Amino acid sequence: MALLDGKVAVITGAGRGIGREEALLMAKQGAKVVVNDLGGHFDGTGESRSPAEEVVKEIRAAGGEAVANFESVTDFKAAKRIIECAIDNFGKLNIVVNNAGILRDRMIFNMTEDDFNAVLDVHLRGTFNMARHACNYWREQHKAGNLLNGRLINTSSDSGLLGNAGQSNYGTAKAAVATMAIIIDREMSRYGVCANAIAPVARTRLTIDATPQTAATMPPPKPGEIDRFSPAHVAPLVAWLSSDDAKDVHGEVFRVGLGMVWLMRGWHTAAKITQPGPLKFWDPVELGMRVKEELAKGLTKKESLSEVLSGN
Ligand SMILES: NC(=O)c1ccc[n+]([C@@H]2O[C@H](COP(=O)([O-])OP(=O)(O)OC[C@H]3O[C@@H](n4cnc5c(N)ncnc54)[C@H](O)[C@@H]3O)[C@@H](O)[C@H]2O)c1
Repeated sequence: MALLDGKVAVITGAGRGIGREEALLMAKQGAKVVVNDLGGHFDGTGESRSPAEEVVKEIRAAGGEAVANFESVTDFKAAKRIIECAIDNFGKLNIVVNNAGILRDRMIFNMTEDDFNAVLDVHLRGTFNMARHACNYWREQHKAGNLLNGRLINTSSDSGLLGNAGQSNYGTAKAAVATMAIIIDREMSRYGVCANAIAPVARTRLTIDATPQTAATMPPPKPGEIDRFSPAHVAPLVAWLSSDDAKDVHGEVFRVGLGMVWLMRGWHTAAKITQPGPLKFWDPVELGMRVKEELAKGLTKKESLSEVLSGN
């Protein structure tokens, strides 16, 4: 028996890159898959049916079951139709992987309102739209006694977890979708749902075409070697998180890629500044000295994206 036999999954942005690999592997593992993809350029403009259609063809050629869907996750009503596409075609929905993504990098002083809105629309609003309709469905089904073991996997990014210059739109949305998974998990675990997030690392058009500075850190494999930057390294974790075996994994954030998985934990107290004696209002200069003392202890050393990509 395969890991996802009997499951039905929606994967957004599954026509290319990471989502495509997730769709292929999850179908191979027995899931029936809605391959959603608008088929646009990496900046969110344009559309094409062929990326989603090609992936569906590949899945069917390998003996799996899939249907294509070309709606945009940015539209609340369209997101409902994506969820309904799974239920209409396959009778139910167990898994939603929020993967669709675009990039419009600019330094904050050059970023247009449109660049900011377009990126937040796909990553943040799109993730909300899909989660909102799926969770409503899972709650209703649970109330009716139909236990579907819902799985929600949001796609975050190191840009959101660590911060990356030029991505105040993208990183902001990616931090938010990681937190959204934690919050949704707290709301939905009582209905048998697990919500988690991943921060993938892979060579796709978003890293090759949209961010040439990242592309330079992802050299192609030598002949005969497995490509350490292949998006196929991301899919096994997503397939497992989608399975019944991952029932105890709640509100976690994983970095995944290069054949590795990192368990990420978010904001936590790294140092605490207390007052000597009875409570008083701080003198700002005195407080500043204490803040500098704590920072000088090196407690705030942060991981960098280049450390991650070097595999260290
Ligand atoms: N590649 C990486 O290293 C990396 C790192 C961190 C996060 N991510 C995230 O992983 C996800 C997948 O990215 P990728 O690298 O595979 O890029 P990709 O461009 O290859 O794939 C993204 C897909 O999403 C689709 N899409 C875009 N807007 C859509 C919309 N409104 N509705 C439906 N589909 C839409 C695109 O058509 C495209 O096929 C994205 O959320 C991205 O931000 C990727």
